[in-house]
Amino acid sequence: MAASAVPDFLYGTAWKEGRTAALIGLALRAGFRGIDTANQRRHYVEAGVGEALVAAYRTGIVTRADIFVQTKFTYQRGQDHRLPYDPAAPVATQVAQSMASSLEHLATDRVDSYVLHGPASGRDWTEDDVDAWAAMVRERDIGHTRWLGVSNVSLRHLVQMEATGAERPTFVQNRCYARFGWDRAVRVFCAERAIVYQGFSLLTANPEVVQHPLVGRLAEREKASPAQIVFAFARAVGMLPLTGTSDPYHMAQDLASRALSLSADEVQAIEALAG
Ligand SMILES: NC(=O)c1ccc[n+]([C@@H]2O[C@H](COP(=O)([O-])OP(=O)(O)OC[C@H]3O[C@@H](n4cnc5c(N)ncnc54)[C@H](OP(=O)(O)O)[C@@H]3O)[C@@H](O)[C@H]2O)c1
Repeated sequence: MAASAVPDFLYGTAWKEGRTAALIGLALRAGFRGIDTANQRRHYVEAGVGEALVAAYRTGIVTRADIFVQTKFTYQRGQDHRLPYDPAAPVATQVAQSMASSLEHLATDRVDSYVLHGPASGRDWTEDDVDAWAAMVRERDIGHTRWLGVSNVSLRHLVQMEATGAERPTFVQNRCYARFGWDRAVRVFCAERAIVYQGFSLLTANPEVVQHPLVGRLAEREKASPAQIVFAFARAVGMLPLTGTSDPYHMAQDLASRALSLSADEVQAIEALAG
């Protein structure tokens, strides 16, 4: 993969604690080339991600140029006491401090994507978000990240963000619920602006889809698992999926789902299942 390319699957590193480095090593060996993390110690061990990357460079599994590394800035309300910045500092300073800490954890001088973990308010794009985003743009301008993104956003957030005249994100990363039309409104907004939609919790948020007879029949026909059909569907509707599997067999399965193809009718049928 060229450094400029975005891979077609992201390996998520949340909730792995002491197993973080080992699992990322396995994921890289399985073939994942996109890594998603966050400088949020409550849910992620970003330093463990860096440890795995350094080990993989040393053993020749990948070079830095082969991989896409994405991390996030998380407001204090999403953190516990283990903060990567001074909570008394203005938000813009917190962004710069969090980025410096991420680069150190990840043993790199530039990440590929830097994501605002979530807006300050569940409802509106606030002044804090305006400040954080401007600081993130500055981090991009000085070369600390190639691209920028936002996460856990509603259509309302995105519309309000756009109305501030802010630079458009390259990525939107959201939890994707089938029962909300697979986040259709946000996906449409992204598609119209060539923003890459990253979908997470595709399996865990949608057990009714994973267990649905239609998905079961398609899995049987393709000699695949229902999980693989869900990932194939996600890709077919234009998402960049994430998986956080801890199981090497599932790592291989998730990557193999890239070879599955569903007809337009089948994709439409899955899209209509719960939306
Ligand atoms: N921006 C945010 O706020 C945010 C929030 C949550 C997550 N994320 C990111 O998204 C990543 C992924 O999170 P997620 O919620 O999608 O996944 P996840 O919670 O890590 O879980 C994936 C689940 O699917 C199962 N699974 C995966 N592949 C499977 C397969 N082929 N067959 C059967 N089961 C399979 C896994 O079980 P096994 O382990 O047994 O395979 C696991 O239970 C996180 O690690 C994080 O990087 C971001």
